[in-house]
Amino acid sequence: VKPRTIFSGIQPTGIPHLGNYLGALSNWVKLQNENPHDKLIFSIVGWHALTLPQNPKELAASRRHMLAILLAIGIDPKRSIVFHQDANAMHTELAWILGCITPTGKLRRMTSWKARLVESRNANDESEIDESMLNAGLLTYPVLQAADILLYRATHVPVGEDQRQHLELSRDIADTFNRTFKGPSRMFPLPTALITPSKRILSLKDPSSKMSKSASDPASRILLTDSAAQIAAKVRSAVTDSITTGITYDPVARPGTSNLLTILAACTDADVHDVAARCAGMNHGELKAEVASAVEALVAGPRAEFQRLLEDGGYLDQVAQDGAAAARELSAQTMVQVRARVGL
Ligand code: ADP
Ligand code: NA
Repeated sequence: VKPRTIFSGIQPTGIPHLGNYLGALSNWVKLQNENPHDKLIFSIVGWHALTLPQNPKELAASRRHMLAILLAIGIDPKRSIVFHQDANAMHTELAWILGCITPTGKLRRMTSWKARLVESRNANDESEIDESMLNAGLLTYPVLQAADILLYRATHVPVGEDQRQHLELSRDIADTFNRTFKGPSRMFPLPTALITPSKRILSLKDPSSKMSKSASDPASRILLTDSAAQIAAKVRSAVTDSITTGITYDPVARPGTSNLLTILAACTDADVHDVAARCAGMNHGELKAEVASAVEALVAGPRAEFQRLLEDGGYLDQVAQDGAAAARELSAQTMVQVRARVGL
């Protein structure tokens, strides 16, 4: 088996919630621990965060917190390169070059861009969609993402279903570069999606939408740093139904109940149908008590490690510095060739 180069990124926008962890971050740790021959590169993508308005003080804190969280959940800086994107300026350099071979029409076809257009229309209550006030970063965001991946000549990118289109664009851009700027060998491998088995965690308060950092009700999400008492309170207040007595897994008719089962299964690394069968005779109070203790068992270790790491600032700084140095060393090799091929 050829060793893979795996790249993934996460924005430093607050403490991750249980959906981020079960849907994305826990998979990074699995990839790291199960594939000793792969090269792993995990980036905290600060430049991406700037596409939305950020409070600078909060962003600086989130940036540090995200590094501490990644280490706390088990990303091992001796095994994986973990670094701040914004500590390696070559990301923006390559993004510029790639932007110059990417038609704006392709960017306008991204569903994430279309969603922004719809949001801006709703906000201004206009029937006409007006993109002129949206910042250019929102449109070119996927080009920066392509640069993140291609800078390390990554072969595999773990992504959720929602990011599949962006990865397609990265492949497209890589292919365009390869054909436009030919050299002795192909410049960029076309990165392949590692679609993680979907563990979509829903909002505890509105199980028709996913658990999200942007939902207004903080009780709708569990943060990785929540205390046992906070976890128990949030799970207790989760929306369920009383369609029938007992517990059944039925995501369409019983989204709230089913979401609790999904969480319980994911936290205990079990099959959701097995979990549902085991919980069939419970009432919702009993199910919630189980869910709360399973979540607590999962996050207690990382939560304590997170606090310990924040108190050991020198260690965090050292990890950030070493990660950036390793990232820059790899990407410098790419950029020497990229510059030569484009003639700069
Ligand atoms: P949010 O939706 O809270 O803003 P992001 O969009 O920053 O989260 O997503 C970061 C990562 O977490 C992505 O890989 C995304 O697919 C994953 N993710 C986000 N929310 C969930 C969820 N509710 N269930 C599963 N995975 C999720
Ligand atoms: Na989001």
